[in-house]
Amino acid sequence: MRENPNYNEIYYQHTTSHSQVIDIVTEQVVPLSELDAPIDWERLFGNAYPVEIEIGSGKGRFLLEASKRHPKVNYIGVERAQKYVELTRERFEKHIRHFGVDRTSGAFSNVRLVRTDANYFLTRYVPEMSVQAYHIYFPDPWPRKRQRKRRIFRNRDFLEALTRTLTSEGGRLYIVTDHAEYFQEIQERFTDLSTLRSVDAALRPDSDITTHYEMKYVLEGRPIYRAVYEKVMS
Ligand SMILES: C[S@@+](CC[C@H](N)C(=O)[O-])C[C@H]1O[C@@H](n2cnc3c(N)ncnc32)[C@H](O)[C@@H]1O
Repeated sequence: MRENPNYNEIYYQHTTSHSQVIDIVTEQVVPLSELDAPIDWERLFGNAYPVEIEIGSGKGRFLLEASKRHPKVNYIGVERAQKYVELTRERFEKHIRHFGVDRTSGAFSNVRLVRTDANYFLTRYVPEMSVQAYHIYFPDPWPRKRQRKRRIFRNRDFLEALTRTLTSEGGRLYIVTDHAEYFQEIQERFTDLSTLRSVDAALRPDSDITTHYEMKYVLEGRPIYRAVYEKVMS
């Protein structure tokens, strides 16, 4: 628990040179660098609905189901792997075709996919106290000892950005993992933060929406660990 990942400018130049914001419905793709930082959510979405961010959205299962269920919530999926960004686009495309969704109806206009590194995005582009919820499901556990420094929850800038950008009016952080040791570490790290308090994990709405990894691991019979944190009013 001592190491801090080496997120330096070279790392960011490498991982973010292709950063993009993707509107899945209109297929409009804008380089992230063309947006003013911090991002004006209202301008981006054309409405003032609350914003929720999924970090490491993978194949986009949660993003699709949640955005369909809550059209008056804006969802951002942050994913750094191009392969998963493409799979997410395909998932939405298939859904739109299969169910004959009218692209002009406003369906899924509440979703943007951001292909970039989550730490880069949060520390530079997300405005203070502007996020209603963060969803972090099955964060990479980097189980080998020498790789653990890559764990996203070890990054102090990331933790600071998470808490700073959550709204004080009930801003929540939802975490699910199958990795007991990483779960323990995450909980210990949050115990040290006065800005977040742990609340009953049963309070997670939409817990019936499973991610790809959750479905896979539940089928394998692995135990699943869940935590919910709430921003403390300051
Ligand atoms: C184990 S997968 C979980 C995917 C999905 N949340 C699920 O539960 O099915 C972790 C995902 O996080 C993404 N990821 C890891 N670190 C990231 C980072 N710093 N920024 C953005 N995405 C990241 C990976 O590319 C991968 O898609």
